[in-house]
Amino acid sequence: MLSTIVIFGASGDLTGRKLLPALYELYRKGRLPGETRIVGFSRTRFSHEAWRDQLAASTERFLGSRFDRSAWDAFAPSLFYHPGDVGQAGDFLSLKDFLDERDGRSGATRVYYLATAPQFYEPAVKHLGVAGLAQEGGLLRRIVVEKPFGADLATARRLNAALHHVFDERQIYRIDHYLGKETVQNVLVFRFANAIFEPIWNRNYVSHVEITAAEAETVGHRGGYYDSAGVLRDMFQNHLLQLLALSAMEAPARFEADAVRDEKVKVLRAIRPMQPEDVARDTLRGQYAGYREAPGVAPASSTDTFAAVKLHLDNWRWQGVPFFLRSGKAMSCASTQIVIQFRQPPLMLFEGGPRSPHEANRLVIQIQPAEGIQLHFQTKVPDAGMQLRLTDLNFRFQERFSAAMPEAYQRLLLDVLQGDASLFARSDEVELAWGIIDPIRTAWSATDQPPLLTYLPGNWGPLESISWIHRHGHQWFDSCPVLH
Ligand code: BG6
Repeated sequence: MLSTIVIFGASGDLTGRKLLPALYELYRKGRLPGETRIVGFSRTRFSHEAWRDQLAASTERFLGSRFDRSAWDAFAPSLFYHPGDVGQAGDFLSLKDFLDERDGRSGATRVYYLATAPQFYEPAVKHLGVAGLAQEGGLLRRIVVEKPFGADLATARRLNAALHHVFDERQIYRIDHYLGKETVQNVLVFRFANAIFEPIWNRNYVSHVEITAAEAETVGHRGGYYDSAGVLRDMFQNHLLQLLALSAMEAPARFEADAVRDEKVKVLRAIRPMQPEDVARDTLRGQYAGYREAPGVAPASSTDTFAAVKLHLDNWRWQGVPFFLRSGKAMSCASTQIVIQFRQPPLMLFEGGPRSPHEANRLVIQIQPAEGIQLHFQTKVPDAGMQLRLTDLNFRFQERFSAAMPEAYQRLLLDVLQGDASLFARSDEVELAWGIIDPIRTAWSATDQPPLLTYLPGNWGPLESISWIHRHGHQWFDSCPVLH
C-alpha cells in the first residue's frame, strides 16, 4: 500500500521539530505502513536534496543520540519537496500533477497536513478542493489540522464550515497533541481496564478534581503568537478540557472514534456555562513579571499567562464536585497532573489522625514529566502510638517499562495513516470547548474583574491563587515531580 503525506508549511518550525522526527522514528521502528512518502510544500525554493539535508540536521538536533545516520540515509529517499504558495490556486494544480505522477496508476492514500500559520488553513482547504485533491474516487484522502483551531467559537465554526465544504467529517483529523501522549491515553486504560476505581469515581466519594498544566518555561521567542492568544486559548480550550473530558466521561460502549468522542462531547455539554457575574468569583488570571519585555509582546500587554478556573458539571456523576483547572507559564516547575481528591472518612477513629480534609485519599495521575500514578493514603507511623501519616503507593512508568515514552506525534501520525480518529477532536467537540472558554474571555475583556495579577516567575502563579481556592473550600496539591 502506498501512502503520501503532504506537509503544508514544510519549511516551518513544527515540521522540523516534531513531524519529521516523529516520521523518522516510526520508520526506524518499522511502523510506517507499506511504502510511505512525504512531500513538503512551502514557498521556499528547495531541491529535494536541500530539504532532506535541512531535515537531517533538524532531526539530529531534536533526537540527539537516538538519531542514527544510516537509518536516516535509508529513510531520506522517501522525502520529496514541491515549492508552492498555499494562497495560489495554481500551485495546487502543479502539486496535483506532481503527486499523480509519483503515485502512478494505482494511486495512494493521501494525508494533507496543515502545518502552516493558522491564517492559511482556509485558503489551503479551498485550494485543495478546487484542484480536486480532496476527491476520493476509491482512494483515501485525509486532512490533518493543527491547533489553534479557530480563535473563538465564531472562527472555529467558520473553519469547520470551510473544511466541511471540501471534506467529510470522517476525513478530518484535528490535532490536540495531548491526546497522543501515552499518559493521557492511560487515563482511559486506568479508568476502564480496572474495575476497582469505577465505583468510587463519582460525587459520592470525590470531593474535587484538580487539573494542572504548569510550565517552568516563559513564552520565550513565541511572544508574537502568545500575546494574541493567552493561556485560555493556548492551553485551556484544547489540552485542559481534553484532560477534563477523559477524567469525567462515562465508559464508551466500544473503543472506537465516534463512541469515545460521543462520551467526551456529553461531558463538555454538561459543563455549566459560566455566567458573566460568576467570572470574578470562579476564575483567576495572572501575568508573570517580565512577560511584557519578551520579544513580540506589546509593552502594555494585558495578556494572561496564568489562569485558574472552577467548572461545574451538571450530571448525575459529578453534580457538586468542582473541577479546578489551572495552567501557566514561568511557574515553579513543569508538572502536568490530574488530582482526584477523595472525601474524608465519615468518622475519624484515631486521635493522631488527619486534622485537615486535605489529608484524605488522593489519586495523582502524573501526565508529565515524571509519568506515573500515585495513590495517597493514611498509614500508622510505627512505634508512635496511633499517630497517622499520609503516605503513597507510587507507580512510575520509567521504573516498570524499559521503552522510552514516544513523542505524541508518532502515535497521532500513525493513527491518521491508519484512519483511526479516536484521538482527534470532532467538530462538535471543538465548538463546545470554545463555548466554555469564550464567556470567560469576554468577561475578562469587558471588566477588570478578576484583576490581572502579577506573579514572580518560579511560583505557582499569583500568590492569591492559594486564597482563591481556599475560598472555594479546597487546597491545591502543588508538587514538583522528582525526576531520576
Ligand atoms: C502547546 C502550546 O499547544 O502546548 C504551548 O501552544 C505549550 O504554549 C505546549 O507550551 C505544551 O505542550 P507539552 O507537550 O510540552 O506539554
